[in-house]
Amino acid sequence: MNILILGSGGREHAFTYKLVQSKKVTQIFVAPGNAGTQEIATNININPTDFEAIKNAVLRHQISMVIVGPEAPLVAGVHDFFLADEELKNIPVIGPKKDGAILEGSKDFSKEFMIKHGIPTAKYKSFTQESLEEGKLFLETLNPPYVLKADGLAAGKGVLILDALDEAKAELEEMVSNQKFGNASSTVVIEEFLKGIELSVFVLTDGKSYKILPSAKDYKRIGEGDQGLNTGGMGAISPVPFADQAFLNKVEELVVKPTILGLQKDGIDYRGFIFIGLMNDNGAPSVVEYNVRMGDPETEVVLPRIESDLFDLFEGVAHQNLHEKEFSVTDNIATTVMLVSGGYPEAYEKGKLISGLKTIKNSIVFHAGTSIKNNTVVTNGGRVIAVTSLAYSIQEALDMSYKTIGGIYFEKMNYRKDIGFDLVD
Ligand code: AMP
Ligand code: GLY
Repeated sequence: MNILILGSGGREHAFTYKLVQSKKVTQIFVAPGNAGTQEIATNININPTDFEAIKNAVLRHQISMVIVGPEAPLVAGVHDFFLADEELKNIPVIGPKKDGAILEGSKDFSKEFMIKHGIPTAKYKSFTQESLEEGKLFLETLNPPYVLKADGLAAGKGVLILDALDEAKAELEEMVSNQKFGNASSTVVIEEFLKGIELSVFVLTDGKSYKILPSAKDYKRIGEGDQGLNTGGMGAISPVPFADQAFLNKVEELVVKPTILGLQKDGIDYRGFIFIGLMNDNGAPSVVEYNVRMGDPETEVVLPRIESDLFDLFEGVAHQNLHEKEFSVTDNIATTVMLVSGGYPEAYEKGKLISGLKTIKNSIVFHAGTSIKNNTVVTNGGRVIAVTSLAYSIQEALDMSYKTIGGIYFEKMNYRKDIGFDLVD
């Protein structure tokens, strides 16, 4: 069976790496992919939101399943596009339709969904330019810090957490009146600040049943000690030691089950991943956000721990018999450390030669922003490579990743040397 993966990051390389292992998969195409996916699959130079081009590729390469990595094609309706097309409608897409993708595409929608279905989350209200003054009054009723969220997709930058009331009021105005995040902030969600430690839980669902995938924690800030600007993620660890079984049971009962049931009640036939961002406040889970895809770099630690055939699970999603599928996870711990271009998450250069990739022994190297130029691998993005290792302890796995990194080099390479700092003794 031939399959197509949409996307080009470390997440998509990890999908490719895992699906190559399935005996049922003949050929994998990745659009547009990176230098890492090119080594083990075939890249097609297509933008994941160019649906007509995707259709041509699917027909030309006799694709029998499409797996969607990033949120943009889902929010733009790639799954709906397939269902509406005579030639594509029987080809399963792993990823929700527009009516499910809106859980990530609109924070206002997802908050309303959570409240409606009794899923624990921070109290909130939404405001637009028309209700700006009410928004300012609402801020006055809250205690600092103030959390302001652009309703729509804002490339991970749409959340502001501010200590001063004046600043919060000014930023609200910037967002709704001056389009600080473009259209994405014409509606703004203001919510209570949640205390606790953050983690993510991933669910794969066929709309009826679900599998809870390993939990993970990512390190979002560029600097050591979780300082500095936000990034897409500088590293990740799975599982999360403070998410013990008692906590995960609560997550399943209070969050996962009501989410799946809520989707059913609302008539949303959801087939794909749900990435649940959670706060653990003294053992009580509260949902920070939903994403309708896997995380990156979380995928680079979650998938290597899954022992079952991922394609078999995807077939379960497509045919709605996921409950019959075998699902097992290794006890080993996975860590990943992201190598980034100097300057990221602000301006950075591309096209730097990457050396040392051929001699990797004890880690898995997932490519993110890489491409091939004159037969050599060069940097092609801010986040360049994720180095994943598996071991019996977090420390051991981290030691392996950092040892591997010692052999990799590109000009202005940067990475955090303290991934997992808060989790090891
Ligand atoms: P989001 O894009 O919703 O994931 O928000 C980005 C980050 O902001 C989250 O990962 C949290 O670290 C933080 N955050 C969002 N909402 C809250 C909240 N209500 N309380 C505390 N931190 C939050
Ligand atoms: N690492 C966070 C995300 O993928 O959204």
